[in-house]
Order: sequence, then C-alpha cells, then structure tokens
Amino acid sequence: MLDIRNLTVEFETAHQRVRAVDGVSLAIGPGQVVGLVGESGSGKTTLGLAVTRLIPEPPGAIRSGEILFKGRDLLRLPQEELVQVRGGAIAYVFQEPATSLNPVMTVGRQLIETVERHTSRRSRAARGRAVELLAQVGIPAPEERLSSYPHELSGGMKQRVMRS
Ligand SMILES: Nc1ncnc2c1ncn2[C@@H]1O[C@H](COP(=O)(O)OP(=O)(O)O)[C@@H](O)[C@H]1O
Ligand SMILES: [Mg+2]
Repeated sequence: MLDIRNLTVEFETAHQRVRAVDGVSLAIGPGQVVGLVGESGSGKTTLGLAVTRLIPEPPGAIRSGEILFKGRDLLRLPQEELVQVRGGAIAYVFQEPATSLNPVMTVGRQLIETVERHTSRRSRAARGRAVELLAQVGIPAPEERLSSYPHELSGGMKQRVMRS
C-alpha cells in the first residue's frame, strides 16, 4: 500500500551536507502497523516527513527514491494532488500535540474544518462526523468536547484529536 524505495534525503547547510536518510526501502501493507526504531538523529522524522514532501527545502532535498502510494509516486505528484493526500489518506500525529492544534480555536471548529476539507460533508453532517471521530479515538462525551479549547484537554487527548 505504501512502498518506499531507495529514499535518500539530504540537508545542506553552509558548512556541511548531512545525508539524513540513505537509500531506505520499506513497504507497509494494508492494515499493517510498522514501528521505526532508531537513535535520535537517525532520520526517522525525516523519513516520515518525506512521504508527503514536508521536508523544508532548502535546506533539505530528496535526492533519490520513489514513494508509491495507491500506485502513484508521491514524489512526482502535483502539489494540488499532494495536499489532498496529506492530512487525508496520510496524516501525522506529531510528538508535540500542543503545536499542532490552534490554541485559539475550539477542537470542534478545527475538526469540522478538516472534515470539510477532505470529505463532501458540510455543516451538520461535518459536525456529526467530527463527533464520530472523537468517539472512535475514545474521547468521552465527544459532543461536549467540540466546544473545548486545546488547553482544556490532556496531552493524550490532544494527540487523539490529532489522530481523528
Ligand atoms: N531542517 C534541518 N536542517 C538541517 N539538518 C536537519 C534538519 N532536520 C533534520 N536534520 C538532520 O537530519 C538528521 C536526521 O534527523 P531526524 O530525521 O530528525 O532524526 P530522528 O527523527 O531519527 O531523531 C540529523 O542529523 C538532523 O540533524
Ligand atoms: Mg524524530
């Protein structure tokens, strides 16, 4: 389903060039959960971000490889199609959830906005879907949580909001 082939990513600064990911290949099948383990600085985050081309360029650059997803190479996908995949079929739960959610917007507004961006659901239907998603990740009283602000949620709850 996701097939990463021979991926190489480098960061080039004024003084040095760092090969953060060096010819990595890995495949993830449907329903498969894969954990990537390695010491700090070994390139895990860079690999993950490269999948939807979120590497800051410069200083970063994807030097080689293919990332096949549903038969298409994400590295060669036009930007408009890529943003549809990103946050839709492929989403990230970042380590620091507080920086991923907007602190001045309710959880509901942020979720509903995401639902509207990635589905044909609007207004009430989008709201219903947001409640469903919160329930799915095990958030109690999901209906009420829609009007919460991120700081009113625990760290784990915020991570689950990001996941939903
Ligand atoms: N924006 C960046 N600019 C320069 N070097 C970077 C940048 N991001 C990551 N690197 C370098 O790439 C390497 C891999 O980093 P990273 O993917 O964050 O590792 P991990 O997630 O496994 O800790 C490190 O040497 C890091 O310093
Ligand atoms: Mg990391």
